[in-house]
Amino acid sequence: MMRKGENIIFGCHFPRLYLCPMKLLDGKLVSQAVKDRLKTQTDERMLQGKKVPHLAAILIGNNGASETYVASKVKSCSEIGFKSTLIRLDADVTEQELLFKLNELNEDFDVDGILVQLPLPKGISEQKIIETILPSKDVDGFHPESVGRMVQGLPAFYPATPYGILLLLEHYGIETKGKHAVVIGRSNIVGRPISIMLNKNEYPGNCTVTVCHSHTPNLKEICLQGDIIIAALGRPEFLKADMVKHGAVVVDVGITRVADDSKKSGFAIKGDVDFENVAPLCSYITPVPGGVGPMTIAALMMNTFKACAAKD
Ligand code: GUN
Repeated sequence: MMRKGENIIFGCHFPRLYLCPMKLLDGKLVSQAVKDRLKTQTDERMLQGKKVPHLAAILIGNNGASETYVASKVKSCSEIGFKSTLIRLDADVTEQELLFKLNELNEDFDVDGILVQLPLPKGISEQKIIETILPSKDVDGFHPESVGRMVQGLPAFYPATPYGILLLLEHYGIETKGKHAVVIGRSNIVGRPISIMLNKNEYPGNCTVTVCHSHTPNLKEICLQGDIIIAALGRPEFLKADMVKHGAVVVDVGITRVADDSKKSGFAIKGDVDFENVAPLCSYITPVPGGVGPMTIAALMMNTFKACAAKD
């Protein structure tokens, strides 16, 4: 028998559900706060006559999205007062030429952090490139040594996107202990590392984590159990309202370019979440753009600062 103020959802009695007052996890705002803090710390280093952080970025070919990301990284360096070097290489660069460049940057004392924007052209081994970057300059946190240290809870460079997500959750004081985090996607760049980070025995962490992927048969049922959902599979508007429980925290990592004639650029950026219909259910949700994207850059800047400070 139902009591007043209850209704039946999925065959169970729940208190009457009202639409939650949803809050945006504003990555633009938080990333600016992180960058402002880094600027203050960088100014302090300069005043003390210490080295200023220096990021070297390698961009290969003419991939539009990669161009945009790298331009944002270089711009952020300049806003904070970091040095940056952008190395552009043709799409037909050989693996050997790229390895030679990386070895030069490894040996250059002034360079603190090195990133090679992914994806790489066919014929170049991503793994070989990642393993060639010195772990002490691996500000992307992709080197197996960085990943291994992160898994073991040792000080390490965390991959920028998951690190940015943690900074965002932390900024908004989102409770994570004992929560069920559902991660959709198991990439080395986002899904796998965030699943490990959210599982760590510290804040933000202590979650029970389920990692879903393309072979997960009951994905909808698992998502419905998620207190925190990280959508990182790269399929526009994949996460629908009927996959999200009321009050969930939803983090959208997707940034797919979808053709859109109404835009001057000819494309719109779509996340992995059907924002319009999912947002009213959430306690917190990231917008796209303006959520995880700016936080990725802020986290990269934090790593670059740390790589520099480690040389003091
Ligand atoms: N491509 C997509 N995300 C990333 C990232 O975080 N770092 C690099 N280097 N390439 C990427």
